[in-house]
Amino acid sequence: MEHVAVSPWVALAYLVSGVLFILALRGLSSPATSRAGNRYGMIGMTIAVATTLLTHSIASLPEIIVALAIGGGIGFVIARKIAMTDMPQLVAAFHSLVGLAAVLVGLAAYLNPDAFGIMLPDGQINPVSRIELGLGIAIGAITFSGSVIAFLKLAGKMSGSPILLPGRHVLNLGTLIAIIGLVAWFTQDQSAWVIATITVLSFIIGFLLIIPIGGADMPVVVSMLNSYSGWAAAAMGFTLHNTAMIVTGALVGSSGAILSYIMCKAMNRGFLAVIAGGFGAEAAAAGGAAKEQRPWKRGSAEDAAYMMKEAENVIIIPGYGMAVSQAQHALREMGDVLKKEGVNVKYAIHPVAGRMPGHMNVLLAEANVPYDEVFELEDINSEFAQADVAFIIGANDVVNPAAKTDKSSPIYGMPVFDVDKAKTIFFVKRSMGGVGYAGVDNDVFYMDQTMMLLADAKKMVEDIVKALQH
Ligand code: TAP
Repeated sequence: MEHVAVSPWVALAYLVSGVLFILALRGLSSPATSRAGNRYGMIGMTIAVATTLLTHSIASLPEIIVALAIGGGIGFVIARKIAMTDMPQLVAAFHSLVGLAAVLVGLAAYLNPDAFGIMLPDGQINPVSRIELGLGIAIGAITFSGSVIAFLKLAGKMSGSPILLPGRHVLNLGTLIAIIGLVAWFTQDQSAWVIATITVLSFIIGFLLIIPIGGADMPVVVSMLNSYSGWAAAAMGFTLHNTAMIVTGALVGSSGAILSYIMCKAMNRGFLAVIAGGFGAEAAAAGGAAKEQRPWKRGSAEDAAYMMKEAENVIIIPGYGMAVSQAQHALREMGDVLKKEGVNVKYAIHPVAGRMPGHMNVLLAEANVPYDEVFELEDINSEFAQADVAFIIGANDVVNPAAKTDKSSPIYGMPVFDVDKAKTIFFVKRSMGGVGYAGVDNDVFYMDQTMMLLADAKKMVEDIVKALQH
């Protein structure tokens, strides 16, 4: 690729796509406008890709088009086939590809600086470009190996519990300092060993940073890796002299960072503690105790139908199990029937319910649950004291009181719904043996006012709807 002076039209097209990306982010901030937001993003990306293709004198346009067709085809097939429950690991896998692409572009620019317009007349790489290259490759490699571990953990191919190496903090800090030192060294010495060592150390640190993270902290990791992938792309945007890439990368990087911060706040976690890894891990090892044999009550669909029909206020708390069983449509129908009976129905969404940010909101929106019936944790938590029924469907960690009381629990400190304040609790899950993501027992199962509805979530809700209609 030959470096060309940027024409005003190209600059304008990239500006338009940048504005569209900002509109996309704005749209995605609320369920009501998220479809429009997605559309803005797609139009912005089409403009950016088309402008890049049309205005750069690319040696072999056909090759690029073939690559686009192959990559786009694979993406299309995966997007059509993927089950909603597998989305989180898919997102992690895609982040890893962004990281790998940044590493490959960086290495290509190092090997052929002339083609990237970053070579000085004396044949050396421009020192400023060396900083961009070094940082881009480092962030890209961290994103890649970190995302691969996140993928394996989310897909259940690797234990979700923290894996703790002795002296990990010293090891991580030492490796990070070494990487930064090498990037500085690279500005003086462009030997291959420097860039190769930066690459290898960064792959290792990405791995080391993510393996100790477990339990309930994965949501923060996923959004953090999202942010890294943006910064890696932005760094490569500098190398490629592509403003659209710099702007898009910075938008992804900063919005991911803000999301990570919001999630840390929602989880009551220190940002640095999560990044340093293994937060709450020692406690998890001690606290993940075997389940006790305590008395509990089993309810039926008819019990639930009867109690909810008589209720004034019902709060529904959906979680990961609702996504697994795709119970959202049946649930909306149950809500509709109850509303016809004069019951006040609300949905309570925890910030980390499910396995990805906004997971429950997306599913409820898909089932056409009205947005004004859906409430965030802090807006609804005080209402459990007035609720006649808390209907927990496939949620577990987000209603576990151990987060408030048990210092040894891996979820200690995470804000949870005060379901214990409701008069009656129905808890839908498949078996007493199954645990939530954090793998701990839940006192709510054994409370006096709790009735366990043991069945697949969708089947149970369908049975409740039938019972309500008779
Ligand atoms: P979880 O605590 O994971 O509990 C899921 C519950 O659903 C379990 O009790 C399970 O019990 C039940 N279940 C599974 N399949 C079911 C089915 N087909 N029918 C009925 N029940 C079913 O869910 P949650 O409360 O949503 O908590 C989220 C957890 O995931 C938190 O710890 C959070 O930190 C973590 N996490 C969240 C994210 C994001 S960003 N949201 C990302 C990664 C991790 P049975 O097996 O007995 O049915």
